[in-house]
Formats: sequence, C-alpha cells, structure tokens
Amino acid sequence: MRTLAVIALKGGSGKTTVATHLALGAHLRGRDTLLVDIDPQHSAHDILTARETEGPACVTSSGRNVVAAQFGALAERRDLMIVDTPAGAVEAVSEAIVVADFALMVVRPTLIDLSGLARTLMIVRRLGKPSAVVVNQAPVARETVEAPLVKRAMKGLDYMQANVAPVILRSRSIYQTALERGRSAEETSDRAAAREIAALWDFVDASMSAKNAEAS
Ligand SMILES: Nc1ncnc2c1ncn2[C@@H]1O[C@H](COP(=O)(O)OP(=O)(O)O)[C@@H](O)[C@H]1O
Ligand SMILES: [Mg+2]
Repeated sequence: MRTLAVIALKGGSGKTTVATHLALGAHLRGRDTLLVDIDPQHSAHDILTARETEGPACVTSSGRNVVAAQFGALAERRDLMIVDTPAGAVEAVSEAIVVADFALMVVRPTLIDLSGLARTLMIVRRLGKPSAVVVNQAPVARETVEAPLVKRAMKGLDYMQANVAPVILRSRSIYQTALERGRSAEETSDRAAAREIAALWDFVDASMSAKNAEAS
C-alpha cells in the first residue's frame, strides 16, 4: 500500500479539492482507496459521503491517530491511503508526512501562499520525504502564455528548488460543483479539468511508486 499526504500550512490552497480528486481518480482506476481526513472540519469526509455511487472509502481521524488509520488500511489490504490535512497544524501535518511515502503540497500562485509554502517545504525537507508541489487555482493561460502572477510563482518555486508537478490546476468552477455531489471533474463533461486531474494523478502515482523518489 502507498500513502500520500496532501499538505499546505496555508488554508484555502486546495488541499481538500486535490485530495478528494486524487482519491476519486484512484478509485476510478480500480485502486482500493481510503481517504483519511484529519482536518477537524471534515470537508473531505462530507464530500465523499455525498457521493451517490460507489467511491473511495473515507474515515475521519486526527494527526495522532493517523498511524492507527494506516494500520487499519493495511489490515483491509487497501492499495492506497490519502491523508487530507488541516491548515496551520504543524504537528498534525508532520504526523501525516511521517507515515507517507510521498507528500504533495498544494499552493496558489500568490505571494502569501508561496510564503506559507516555504515553511511547509522546510518541514517536508526536515522529515526527508520525497515531495512535490502542485500549483492550484491558477488563471487559465491565454494562448499558452501564462499570467505574470503564475510566471512569478513558477520562478519562486524554482528558487525554492521545489519539485513542481508537470501540470497546473486552473481556477475552474467545475472543481467546486462536481464535488458538491462527491464527483470528480473527471466524471463530468469538462474535458480541460479532466485532463488536468488525469495528468496530476499520473504524476502522483508514478512519484509514489518511484523506489528512489528523491527527497526534494
Ligand atoms: N482549482 C480550483 N478552481 C476553483 N476553485 C477551487 C479550486 N481549488 C479549490 N477551489 C476552491 O477554493 C476553496 C478552498 O479549497 P479547499 O480544497 O477547501 O482548500 P483547503 O482544503 O486547502 O483549505 C474551496 O471553495 C474550493 O472549492
Ligand atoms: Mg481542507
């Protein structure tokens, strides 16, 4: 079983949106998946329990109980466990990183988010975990030209020597509306969003499986 922690100390960056989309993506690809929601707000749990058809399993837990959740997932012979984490909770986020094979940081392309990311990166690096950063809620590129905001953010990530995912998730209302009923954007007719999520899934799946995934 692989374990993925979706993290960011900054709130509202899109952790829950990304964690639930990846859990749904794994489920749609036939992986027996458990999402462990350690955010006391339990948004990921609310999203996945609103689903009308079969989907990934989901439990609520806490940072200190994440090891117990992992033991449970192992006993159930799951293929994948994804941990959705709270903002601002260094302890809980650290506990999730410790049990994970791979940590995925989610960041909006803004100065405030990038400043928060520096601290998140520090924690991941101290814990020596392979990781990557995905930029989320970016404006759509105009004829492949990125907005100055996004260009600056990519430069900032370059300075931080972050391992950046090869796909940028754009600001799209489908990410909000699909999750209202526990569905992934991949299950809607929005092909652009579906392509983004599929590309992110492929990247995360390959990264988690890489035996010698580099700690970044
Ligand atoms: N790519 C996106 N496009 C549009 N809205 C988004 C996107 N990602 C997240 N959101 C919205 O931003 C808000 C915060 O996202 P959420 O996933 O709850 O962040 P976090 O879990 O990091 O606090 C939510 O209202 C969510 O629907
Ligand atoms: Mg959240």
